[in-house]
Amino acid sequence: MLVGEPGTAKSMLSELLAAAISGTSNLTIQGSAGTTEDHVRYSWNYALLIAEGPTQRALVPSPVYQAMASGRLVRFEEITRCPPEIQDTLVSILSEKQLMIPELGDEARVWARPGFNVIATANLRDRGVHEMSAALKRRFNFETVRPIRDRAFEATLITQSLDAELGPGRPPLAASVMDVLVTAFADLRTGTTTGGTPVKRPEAVMSTAEAVNVAIASSMAARYLGDGTVDAGDIARQLVGIALKGTDEDARLIRHYVDNVVRERARGSREWREFFDAADGLWR
Ligand SMILES: Nc1ncnc2c1ncn2[C@@H]1O[C@H](COP(=O)(O)OP(=O)(O)O)[C@@H](O)[C@H]1O
Ligand SMILES: [Mg+2]
Repeated sequence: MLVGEPGTAKSMLSELLAAAISGTSNLTIQGSAGTTEDHVRYSWNYALLIAEGPTQRALVPSPVYQAMASGRLVRFEEITRCPPEIQDTLVSILSEKQLMIPELGDEARVWARPGFNVIATANLRDRGVHEMSAALKRRFNFETVRPIRDRAFEATLITQSLDAELGPGRPPLAASVMDVLVTAFADLRTGTTTGGTPVKRPEAVMSTAEAVNVAIASSMAARYLGDGTVDAGDIARQLVGIALKGTDEDARLIRHYVDNVVRERARGSREWREFFDAADGLWR
């Protein structure tokens, strides 16, 4: 069970693990409020069910069923978005390593072959998530995926994502501008600047995934609406956008950050000056 804040690459890690261990990351259930027991166990091809009755041919196996039958890993994304009674469908599968199919006969079941296992992911902080039952918790090993602390490493990751998404001809983004991006995210994520000034943390998720999105959107803005080079103003406009699509309180907190921390830095840095002017202009 990979748990953590949204955007910390839990899904990415589970995909990589499943692909490395089982050769495929495609056996996946996406948890949602609409996930049913049939999605976790099996369902039926109704035309065949009516024509032949319940037969193996009419049975439509779920990703969990397929993973058990073939001894592979199944991924269960965002498991806490499912109601607890649906999560609990996994309890007997994980402890008994078998899935009963009463429609095919009293003894009908699929046994988990060696290699079968479940990698689940769950967001700690998000709207619309349910509790996880104690029974299910006991059957998982938990690994907490934490946000990246090292700003240089985060900058490297963002650069790699930009290269992968936009290719080598992407609008140039100077190291000093990248530094503004990762610093602003780190300040708002951790609630303090490197200098020790306290910053109020917005409710919006200031994850690496969101930082990548800001970098990509800023590059697009620079290419199509700007002069072809990403400046700190492009970053500011996208970053403030995160606050504005969130709660009113978030908008207030980011504004407070701009009015205090960014204003102070703008005195001694061209990039922070551009950031300040662009953010300030959005509110005026
Ligand atoms: N530690 C990290 N290493 C590599 N990429 C990361 C990392 N943290 C975030 N990312 C970026 O964030 C994106 C989204 O992560 P995702 O797996 O969807 O997060 P989660 O499932 O935790 O919400 C990844 O595709 C990657 O671009
Ligand atoms: Mg995810």
